[in-house]
Parts: sequence; structure tokens; C-alpha cells
Amino acid sequence: MKKLYVKTYGCQMNVYDSDRMAQLLRPHGYEMTDAPDDANIAIINTCHIREKATEKTFSEVGRFKKYRAKKRKAGEEGLLVVAGCVAQAEGAEIMRRAPYVDVVVGPQAYHRLPEMIAQAKRSIETFTGNPQVIDTDFPVESKFDHMPLPDSRSSLSSFLSIQEGCDKFCAFCVVPYTRGAEYSRSAAEILKEAEHLVNQGVKEITLLGQNVSAYKVQSPQGGTWGIGALCTEIANIEGLERIRYTTSHPRDMMDPDLIEAHRSCPKLMPFLHLPVQSGSDRILEAMNRKHTAKRYEEVIEVFREARPDMGFSSDFIVGFPGETEEDFEATLELIRKINYAQAYSFKYSPRPGTPAATLDLQVPTNIQDIRLERIQDLLFQQQRDFNNSFVGKTIPVLVEKLGNQKNQCLGKSPHQQSVQIESSHDIVGKIININITDAGLKVLMGRPESGLYVSDKTKI
Ligand code: 5AD
Ligand code: SF4
Repeated sequence: MKKLYVKTYGCQMNVYDSDRMAQLLRPHGYEMTDAPDDANIAIINTCHIREKATEKTFSEVGRFKKYRAKKRKAGEEGLLVVAGCVAQAEGAEIMRRAPYVDVVVGPQAYHRLPEMIAQAKRSIETFTGNPQVIDTDFPVESKFDHMPLPDSRSSLSSFLSIQEGCDKFCAFCVVPYTRGAEYSRSAAEILKEAEHLVNQGVKEITLLGQNVSAYKVQSPQGGTWGIGALCTEIANIEGLERIRYTTSHPRDMMDPDLIEAHRSCPKLMPFLHLPVQSGSDRILEAMNRKHTAKRYEEVIEVFREARPDMGFSSDFIVGFPGETEEDFEATLELIRKINYAQAYSFKYSPRPGTPAATLDLQVPTNIQDIRLERIQDLLFQQQRDFNNSFVGKTIPVLVEKLGNQKNQCLGKSPHQQSVQIESSHDIVGKIININITDAGLKVLMGRPESGLYVSDKTKI
């Protein structure tokens, strides 16, 4: 077998896409390696969301230049592939700045990767220049029609892409340009993939989409199914224990099926990542979010009422063009009202081609830095308080792997917290009740509830 190395940046969908690319190449004789200098093909799966992420791509691509050259010098195959959203947005620029890149493939074209690699190899054999094969089209046919079912035999938790693209065009965001228009996969296709994952031992599925709450397809009965109906169907799969979905948009959340699913389906985890970006209506309008802070609070209230133990998460951007101290205070005020379980916050980063990049009144970096620190102080405090509220409680934890220390296993709580478990028994692969004894900003700690059977014979 030849060797394939994949480096993934960015969101969970890139993680899913990287796995699928690796799987597509396996029948062509490539197995995964962790050693980049050993790779016959190296794929860098890139993220374009903020400038920092994009710059990382270019430095990473530079790092791979020497590995590729070494392979070629030794007369072996050595190909460098740039995939993902930077490939989509800046394919030609990559080929110009890094002419040694052999293949550039956008996120909607990676089902063509084996063919593109064959094309690159043919041109290396027949002439001495760089092949520079590029495909950043948005093809009419869906890449999912060309994809084998995933191989998740070694994992308990798996991603499943159900929706891609975005039609919302927030003024700061590149996603509508890099991932294209909203597209929902058919329910039959998704259910088949979910059943296949569960048959392989997967216990938790996270449904993915850039705008997962905009999921919409025809139901088998002829009506429409949104994300709520889909979750309810997936919950019927025997052996599946946990369902999550991300990322949602406040504008699509008042789906009665979804609210009902959170109320009555125990497999649907009590955790919702619902980005708001800002708490100021003026800024929300400038961002083209098409909702107010009040509407966002109403959505949160509805979900809290349906599932009182729901934990909330969000994304925030500080220093969006025109953001005043008063706007920023409104964001802090919203955070105090909602009380988050966790959240991500970013400094606004102008992205070429997006409407906000050319707005007047860009906020200076030193003010962005101060606001980021202030928002994170508050969010981290809320996260610590949220985690501390579990001390003394017993919660079901999906135990995923052994930890680095002796007698330690690592798992995930229903609220997606990492849990360090002290246990002399191997409890990996199970959902075990854990007594939480301590908590930090990013972790809960605990021990299995005593009296539990971890196998037919072993009692804790
Ligand atoms: N600058 C800063 N943060 C951004 N995000 C998206 N675009 C930008 C940008 N130009 C953040 C948003 C989004 C998350 C995935 O990344 O908060 O929800
Ligand atoms: Fe980007 Fe807005 Fe679409 Fe989210 S909803 S992917 S932030 S454009």
C-alpha cells in the first residue's frame, strides 16, 4: 500500500470530508500514515473562515514542499493536494504562490479526487512540469452520489453530513461563497448511512451542516421533513444512543418537530450550539443576521422550556465594523441573560469578497483585543460555573478511550463536556453513570457509580 497523510483545519465538516477523501483513496491503494514525510500523497484540508486560518494553509503548504521533493528525488510518487475552502476561494492564487502544489480540489468536487490524482500522475510521467490539476466547480451532481459508505469501525462517535452550504449571506462570512448554496441530502441516504454507522458500533451521531437547521427534504409521505423530523427518525435506530446536530441558525429554529424532539426524545442530547454573533440589534442588522437579540432570547426560552436542562453554546464576533462600546455592552448583557454552558469568540477578520470587508469604521486591533479579553472573561466564568454545577451529581458518560494516566478513561457527558474518569476497569465503549467529584474550565472529573456492572462478571 502507498501512504496518505491528511492534515485537517477548521470545522467538523472538514473532519468529515477528510475521512471521506481518505476512504475514497483506499481502494486505489492508499492507507493512512501519521508521518507526513512518509506520504505519497499529502492532503491539506483547509479553512477560509478567518485570515489566520488561511495564512496557516500557506505556511503548511510550504512545509510540505520538501517532503514532496524528497519523494520525487527518490523516484517515488509524491503528490501535494490542497482541498477545502481555501482551495475553493483561492485555487488560482495557491497555484501561483505555490506552483509545486499538484492538485487543488474544492469541497464540492472531492468525489473526483481519484481521477484528478490519476491525471496528475499521468502528466508527471509524460512531461517534466508541474501538473497543477484544479477543480473548484460546484457540479450539478451531488458528490454524495459518488461516495462509499463511511468506515467508522474504530469509533463510538461519528459525524454525518446532512446539509451543506448556506443561503444566508451574513455580511462577514465566506461560507456561502466557498461551500455554495444550501443543499440537503435525502432522508433515505442519511438513514442508510446512520444505520451503517450504528452497525459498525457507533453510539453517537452528530448531524452536520453549515446551516443544519435549514435542512429540508420531501418526506416519504409527500410532505416536508426538517431537522426535527429527521432526528426523530434517526432516533428509531436501535443501538444508537445519542444524537447531536450542529450548526444551527436562530432564524430556522422555531421548527415544532425539533422542539418536540427535544421535549420527548431522550436520545437527542440537551445541548444546542446556536450562534448569535452579537447582542446589539444595530450590529445584527449590519451583519445581515435578520433577527434581533430579543428574537434570539425567545428561541432560547422555547428550547429551555422544552428541555429545562438544556445547555447553550454560541459564537461571538467582537469588533465588527462600526461596533461601539455600547454595542459591545449589549453583547455582554445578552450573555449575562442567557448564561452559556460554553462559547467561542473571535475578533472580526475581514474576508475578501464579503460585504463587511469594505465597510467604513473598521475597529482597531487594540480595541478588538480588549473586547475579546472581556467577553472571554465572562464566557469562561459562565463555563466554569456550568461545569461546577455538576459536582456531586451522577451523569451518563460515553466512555471513548483510555486516558494518558494510569487507571484513567476519557469520555463525553450529555452536555458535550470532556470527562476524566478514574477507573481501574476498562469501561471504554460503554455509557456509564459517573459520580462527578470535581470540575475545571474544560473538564469534569469523576468515578463510576459504585454497584455498577461493567460486564457480566465485573462489578465496580
Ligand atoms: N471574522 C471573525 N469570525 C468569523 N466567523 C465567521 N466569519 C468570521 C469573520 N470574518 C465566526 C462566526 C461563525 C464562526 C464559525 O466563525 O462566529 O459563527
Ligand atoms: Fe456564515 Fe451566516 Fe451562513 Fe453561518 S449563517 S455559514 S455565519 S453566512
